[in-house]
Amino acid sequence: MTQPFRPRRSALYLPASNPKALAKARTLPADVVILDLEDAVAPESKAEARAMAVAAVAEGGFGQRELVVRANGLDTEWGADDLATAAVAGPDAVLVPKVSSPAEVRAYDAELASAPAHTRLWIMIETCACLPVLHDLAACAGDTRLAGFVLGTNDFAKEMRARPGLARTPFLPILTMAVAAARAHGLVVLDGVCNEFRDLDRFAAEAAQGLEFGFDGKTLIHPDQIAPCNAVFSPDAAEIAWAEAVEASFALPENAGKGAIKVDGKMVELLHLDQARRVLAVAAAISGGT
Ligand code: COA
Ligand code: MG
Repeated sequence: MTQPFRPRRSALYLPASNPKALAKARTLPADVVILDLEDAVAPESKAEARAMAVAAVAEGGFGQRELVVRANGLDTEWGADDLATAAVAGPDAVLVPKVSSPAEVRAYDAELASAPAHTRLWIMIETCACLPVLHDLAACAGDTRLAGFVLGTNDFAKEMRARPGLARTPFLPILTMAVAAARAHGLVVLDGVCNEFRDLDRFAAEAAQGLEFGFDGKTLIHPDQIAPCNAVFSPDAAEIAWAEAVEASFALPENAGKGAIKVDGKMVELLHLDQARRVLAVAAAISGGT
């Protein structure tokens, strides 16, 4: 993993068929922009949305933002064309829906064979069938373009017939298992959306829950959700101060060769030094970004 850290605190979906949203996304402080061809686009607008997404990727103007195209599934009449077109356009990633088996990951990977090397494959984690094979899905990262999991909590609610409330209780085991599988294989992992985009208190609580579970960031549906999301997923001053103190303490001559030391009255081990270094890398990447 020699790649520099890239912040993915906030990932904003927008319907690729919406020119106003496409223009606005180039000015918004989201770390990731997802041009959607799937659920946000009505069947009669699919071809137009595909053409608009490709034109937006070619035109650029998204600065540091990571650009992702979400394709329709290969089991739909639009999927193959979406993937072929996205492969030519070469965004940072192509996100594909409703993946339930390693064979499907490989099928999507094959469709992207001619895409540039920088174009990664991200998959939606949103079907009941994928839950027993999360690790097998993530392990495909070893020999495919797979590099990310994105939770699709609306589809989980639909398939499970779940009625998640504020605490998202029915999803908690899924969040844990998805993050763990992603971490075991070095994938990016993003939390699902909060549909109540006018209720920013609810949004902030849900984003904080995602941080608690270990997600890199959260997917969003509205510009108003970006600032609170970036705030939640950025290390705060206390966390940065702790990380600096841990790094400085391990660097003291009297601590050379020690595995466990005391910082601010608490035990820290070498594993905390790794965590501290990550916090500092995240903070540096964020302050040097958009
Ligand atoms: N990306 C970029 N810009 C967006 C946006 C988005 N996801 N959602 C809204 N905007 C823009 C609007 O165009 C509007 O721009 P303006 O100020 O220049 O007029 C502004 O932000 C305010 O929008 P608002 O009036 O509050 O919302 P709306 O009623 O126009 O749209 C939604 C509400 C939910 C339909 C819209 O936010 C949306 O389409 N979200 C994305 C849905 C999606 O992609 N779903 C798939 C994944 S779950
Ligand atoms: Mg979905």
